[in-house]
Parts: sequence; C-alpha cells; structure tokens
Amino acid sequence: MDKIVIRGGRRLAGTVTASGSKNAALPVLVSALLADGPCTYDNVPDLRDIHSTVELLRHLGATADFAGNRVVVDPGGFCNPEAPYDLVRKMRASILVLGPILARLGRARVSLPGGCAIGARPINLHLKALARLGADIRLEHGYVTASCPRLKGADITFDIPTVGGTENLLMAAALAEGVTTLRNAAREPEIVALADALNAMGAHITGAGTATIEIQGVEALKAASQTIIADRIETGTYMVAAALTGGDVKIEGCRPDHLEAVIDKLRLTGTAVETGGDWMRVRGAPVPRGVDIKTQPYPGFPTDMQAQFMVLAAVASGSSVISETIFENRFIHVSELRRLGADIVVSGNTAVVKGQNRLSGAPVMATDLRASASLVLAGLVAEGTTEINRVYHLDRGYEDLEGKLAGLGADIRRVPAGG
Ligand code: EPZ
Repeated sequence: MDKIVIRGGRRLAGTVTASGSKNAALPVLVSALLADGPCTYDNVPDLRDIHSTVELLRHLGATADFAGNRVVVDPGGFCNPEAPYDLVRKMRASILVLGPILARLGRARVSLPGGCAIGARPINLHLKALARLGADIRLEHGYVTASCPRLKGADITFDIPTVGGTENLLMAAALAEGVTTLRNAAREPEIVALADALNAMGAHITGAGTATIEIQGVEALKAASQTIIADRIETGTYMVAAALTGGDVKIEGCRPDHLEAVIDKLRLTGTAVETGGDWMRVRGAPVPRGVDIKTQPYPGFPTDMQAQFMVLAAVASGSSVISETIFENRFIHVSELRRLGADIVVSGNTAVVKGQNRLSGAPVMATDLRASASLVLAGLVAEGTTEINRVYHLDRGYEDLEGKLAGLGADIRRVPAGG
C-alpha cells in the first residue's frame, strides 16, 4: 500500500482551493435514483468513496459516468433492489440507497453496514423511521429487507439527530404519499445540500437546516443538475494546518458560513481568521493556545474536526480538554499521536491534552479517515520524518491531499507501494 512521507518543520503559506464535499456528494449522487432522467453533478471530489458510490449505482442498474469532477447518473436502467455486502462493506454510506430503492421500487435488500473503527454506528433510527412511513422491515442473514408498495407520510421524531437517517428519510419521503414531518432532524449543511438537490428535481421540502423538516410527497421527480458544496471538513483541516505551522494560508472556494464553530475555536487559540463569502485567510500564532472542545451535532463543533484539533492542542501552550460526544471510539489517533511525543490522557469520552513544545516524527498508521488526517497534520510540525501508512483512508476523503499541502510549501510526498 502507498504511504505518505513528511519532513516536518515547514511553515505553510499560499493559496489552496477547497474541493467538493464528500459527505454532501454521497447522498446527492444517490438521490439520482429517484429521478426520471439523467442528472448531472459538478464539483464532485475525485475520491475513493465517490468511486465506490458510482460502482454501487451501476450495480443497481443505473448508468454512472465520472469524468473530471463531473458525475452523470442516468437511473433509466435502475431495477435491482439489492446492495450486496461486498459493496456496502467498502463504504458504510451505502446504506443511503435504502430509502431511494424502497421509494422507487417498492422493495429493497441492503446489506447491514456493521460497525467501523470509530464506533458501532447502528442504523436503527433509519429503520424505525422508514417503518413509520409504512415499510415492512426485516433483518435476515445480515441484510435489511424492506418493502412497501407506496410509502405514506408520517410525523417522525428522531431520538437523536442522525445525518444519514435524516438523508435516507428525505429521499424516501420525497416520493411518499402525503406529508412527512421530521423532528429533531440533523441540521448539517449536507442535509440542506440534499434537500436543494431534491427540490431541484421537483420535490417539496421545507425547513432543511432546521430541526423540523417538512416533505410534501410527489408522484415523480425529474432530472436535474447540481453543484456540490465545498467540503467544510477538508477546509477545516487546511485551517488547522495553517494554524499549526504558524502559516498564512488563503482557502478559496470554501464556505466560511459552514465553519462557524471551528472558526470560533481557532480564534481562541490565537489564530487570525479573516473570512469573505467564499474564502478564508488563516494566520497562525507563533505558539497556539490550548482550547477546550466538545463535539456536537451541527451547528456545534464537528466530530469530523476533533482529531485535527487534538494535534493543535498537542503543540499548544497549556492544556486542552477534548470531549467526543458523537462516536464512542473516536480517539484511535491518540495512541499514534503519543508515539510522536504528544501528552494525551484519555478517560472515557474525554481526552486531556498537555501541549508540548515539540513532536518527533515516526512511522504511524490509523484506521479511520480523520484520524489519518490528524497524523498528516502532526507530521507537518514533527521534527524529522513521519511516515503515514494505510494512505487508503486518506484517499477516501481528501482530494489530492499531498499535492495541495506541497503547493503550500510542505515537504510531503507519496511513496507508491513497493517504492
Ligand atoms: C455522518 O455519518 C458522516 N458521514 C460522518 O462523517 C460524520 O462523522 C457523522 O455524520 C456525524 O457528523 C457521512 O455523511 C457519509 P449519524 P452518519 O447518523 O450519518 C448514532 C467522515 O469522517 N446513530 O449522524 O453515520 C451514531 O452511532 C464521516 O467523513 C444511532 O444510534 O452519522 C452516532 O453516535 C465519519 N442510530 C450518532 O447517532 C442510527 O440509526 C450520529 O450519527 C443512526 C445513528
């Protein structure tokens, strides 16, 4: 497998452009299954998870072409109701096809995704809500089987806000008979992006971005085009890279309005953040100050930025307390960061990080996307060489990570397998 090798100590400076959002693109591409003609999506990031989604759409019978940053999905041949284990195990987000397959074909058979490195990640809330729309749901032989000739709108309150659950329900309810109200819905920008894509296809969805979403079901949805929003987590990762290295980085094509909690915390570390409509300039302090973080559903501080902020805390002055409230096992980066010299003590869902004035490079690896990103960030400031293995995880979620960081002055290169 490829690895990434970084020689730390370079200050990052210059301009980088944000890519399209992985987590917005995944449900939006899947939503094409609901259309009656080809849908075109631009600004789609060239990532392993997007290729997996294209493969899944093709397996279901749709035509999907990915060229440049454009994906065209033609659901004309979509007739297969089954998403098999082999495809779902590659990418948990495959569960997002459950709602559209059921809504369109009246039955679906989708492999249960199982847990992943960051937690058990059940889908009980997706299933409970689909059952409220009238679906007969069964779990057998590792698969969810759902059937219902036509879903019926219902008033549904989620026990906790779930991003994937809200997305699955938006897609299912868009073609249901009557009105569906989702309460305690997730409010992430990716939910708004999906609702916008569905509305462009003729759906009637209001309230996306708030905790209460109303969906007036329609008989059919038409083909439409959509441009994928900027990736707020990729942007946040470059913000931390700038802050960590005492750098001066402008990020273009981004959405500062999606990053308010991250910007607030970064400013508390002494980092200067200037924002415009679609750009940000981030200037790091000579030594950042420690800051306490508690992850929360949007608009709170994102769990997907927790690992990256832990690296900042690891080299900051003073101590930081970092609490992870979304996933039960999202501290997998801690033991690897300790190998680089970070002083981190974990107790339950809380990590106490005592800032050090130096980290030292070493070979590391992680089993999750954002954990791997945090190791790259640590490598940028560690003395000597850091070698990040299992680059596979980074390729799932960061478009041209090493190219973008090298463009900002980092000493970083990818060494192909066997190289
Ligand atoms: C999405 O995952 C993102 N993935 C994750 O990004 C992100 O970390 C997460 O939302 C939280 O922001 C995609 O968008 C593809 P949830 P999702 O359902 O939808 C519990 C990354 O690094 N829960 O909002 O799976 C769940 O266990 C990834 O890009 C249930 O209990 O997250 C968690 O504790 C990783 N039952 C909480 O809810 C359910 O049925 C929030 O999960 C569903 C969720």
